[in-house]
Order: sequence, then structure tokens, then C-alpha cells
Amino acid sequence: MDLLSRVTEEFGRRFGVPPWFVVCAPGRVNLIGEHTDYNEGFVLPMAIDRAVWIALSPLSGQHILAYSLDFNSTTEFQLGDLRRTTSGWTEYLKGVAWALQEAGYPLRGWRGVLSGDVPIGAGLSSSAALEMAVARAFSAVSGWEWKPKEMALLCQRAENQWVGVNCGIMDQMISACGKADYALLIDCRSLDSTLVPLPPATAVVILDTATRRGLADSAYNERRAQCEAAAGYFGVPALRDIMWERFEAGAKGLDEVTRRRARHVLTENARTQQACEAMQHGDAVQLGELMKASHNSLRDDFEVSSVELDVMVQCALEHPACYGARMTGAGFGGCAVALVQADAAYQFADEVAAAYRSRTNIVPKAYICHAADGADIVAMPA
Ligand code: GLA
Repeated sequence: MDLLSRVTEEFGRRFGVPPWFVVCAPGRVNLIGEHTDYNEGFVLPMAIDRAVWIALSPLSGQHILAYSLDFNSTTEFQLGDLRRTTSGWTEYLKGVAWALQEAGYPLRGWRGVLSGDVPIGAGLSSSAALEMAVARAFSAVSGWEWKPKEMALLCQRAENQWVGVNCGIMDQMISACGKADYALLIDCRSLDSTLVPLPPATAVVILDTATRRGLADSAYNERRAQCEAAAGYFGVPALRDIMWERFEAGAKGLDEVTRRRARHVLTENARTQQACEAMQHGDAVQLGELMKASHNSLRDDFEVSSVELDVMVQCALEHPACYGARMTGAGFGGCAVALVQADAAYQFADEVAAAYRSRTNIVPKAYICHAADGADIVAMPA
């Protein structure tokens, strides 16, 4: 059964009436532009056809009553009395409610049923999808206009300040603003975005290493701090502001590790803009080369890859249908992304999964994915 039917039917079973709204917000895969968002640079993600769905109806008071099909658990809280109590999915609901209220949005209560098919903790932004779906739900029942960029910023605030993860803006932006059939070049300083088509006859395959790293959060924060230190050394607001010549001339004064971190960000920003151009010219070969270079830079300069990610990328690159592959998302485990010939995508997924399994003894997953629309109301059944 599809997730639209699942949440709608479960809502009917629990509450005896159909829901007023079904909202949905997608996860994402980043094609290129990694660890550039919090340096106010460029990213090139696409929203994917895996999402969080909520069937809901407004309540007259300030009460939230939500049931998660995936966790088989219910949460209840009052909008006027938000408190951190647990660490699970519930905190994303409260965090978004908190950020919206702080920004002055009047919120109405609701009851609803949630479910999703973005794998959790895999680097495909299940958290951002949940946040954006909750924001879309509040907008639907509370009756104020949906402004995707502003909502992305508020959901990022919820994640930074309520959930306590110091992420950049990429994941929320693409979950809010994604467009079917396109990737989006996002300028993470201005939040301007450009629709970019995939090269003709190509497909995007996500390769999940089935590994997750516990220390990812502290390593992520450490990378951020190193980037900020490098920007401070050059006296600019963010690494985005340093041209290559200036970097080369001044980088000697940085310690070796910080220099490599900054070099990744500068080269990755350049690659991301070149990737956008390659896509606009339909050049799959060039895009693939840039993805390979991105992986090498993330592995060697930024040091956020892992043995399993490197093996997965290697297996992908050895396949004749592959133009390029790289780790995607924060790193330290999770997924790789590959650009492949569309007519060989299923074969590629099977053969690369088998090759990875035989080299690592780990059973991976592969998803052939399509670019999807951002957060929206998808049905009004009542
Ligand atoms: C995570 C963060 C994003 C971004 C990526 C790395 O997904 O949530 O903001 O920094 O890592 O590119």
C-alpha cells in the first residue's frame, strides 16, 4: 500500500472520520556541494521520491495528538506549554512548533497520523523531511500562507536550537523547494536557487553502505569550527568569500589540517558551479568527473568518508554504466550517490550491491530515485 493510503486509512481507523489534509515532504540526495552550505557556498541536491507523510485535521484548541505508524507510538502536547522530554521523533514536532511560534506564526492544534519511507540516519535527510512535513501541516491547519524559504530557515532553527544538531540550510531548503525532474543549485548565502535538469538518459542511484557512525555529530561540529577558523584567519565572513589566488598566497599561515579543510570547501564550491554548467549542457561525463573529484576531496582533504563509503564508490566506478560516484550527505557512513546510464540503472544497482557485499560482508541497499517536488498538501480527503 502506498503511504498516502496508509496514513489516510490509519487516520480513519483511529478517529472515525477522514482527515482534512494529507501533507508530504521529501528527503534528499546531494549530487555535489558537500560541507559547503555552512560556509555560505553552493550545493546541488535534489528532493527524492521518499518522504514523510502526515494525514491530519485541525482541533479547536492548542492540543497536538500525533501517532507515528513507523514507531507505533503516540505523542501529545500543548502548543502553549512546549517542553523537551524525550529525544525521539516527538522533539521534531515540538521544535518546529517552537520555531514557528517564536517567529510569530499563530498555530492551531491538530490530530494526525505520520509515516515515512526516508531511511533514518542514512544521510538522506529524514529529519529535514519530518520537520518540513510538520511545518506544512501547521500551515495547512492554521491557514497562513506557505513560504518555502522562510519555512526552511525556521525548520533549520528548530534542528539547531531545539533538537541540538548544528546543521546547515541545504536539507531543509531542498525539502521545501524541490521540483520534480530537477536538481536545484542553491546559493546558501542568498538562498537563491536555479533549477538544473539531469543529463539526458541518466539516472541517480543511491547506494546505502548500511553503516552508521555514532561520532558523526561531534566530527561535523569539529569540521564546522575548522572552516570558521580558516575564514577568521583570512578575515572574511565565510570561506565562500575567498578566491583561489588569495587562498594560495595566504594558506601557508594555516596549520596543515585547517588548510586542507579550507581547500576542500574552495574546490568543492568551484566543482559545484561547474557541475551546474555541465548539467545545463547535458554533459554526463563531465558531471561524473566532478563527482569523482568531490569524493576524493571529501576523503583526503575534508576526511569525512569511511572505509565502506570508499569501497562503495570504488565498486560503483568499476561498473561500465557509471559516469561518477561519491559519498553524499555529512559522511562517516550512510550513502553514496552514483550517476549512471538510465537503461542500465537496475543492473547497476544489483551488480554494485553484490560487489560491495562480497568485499565487505555487509548487505547494502540501493535505490533508483527520481527528483520530486518539495513539501506540499497532496490530498484533502474530507
Ligand atoms: C548534513 C547537514 C547539511 C550539510 C551536509 C554536508 O546533511 O545537515 O546541512 O552540511 O551534512 O554537506
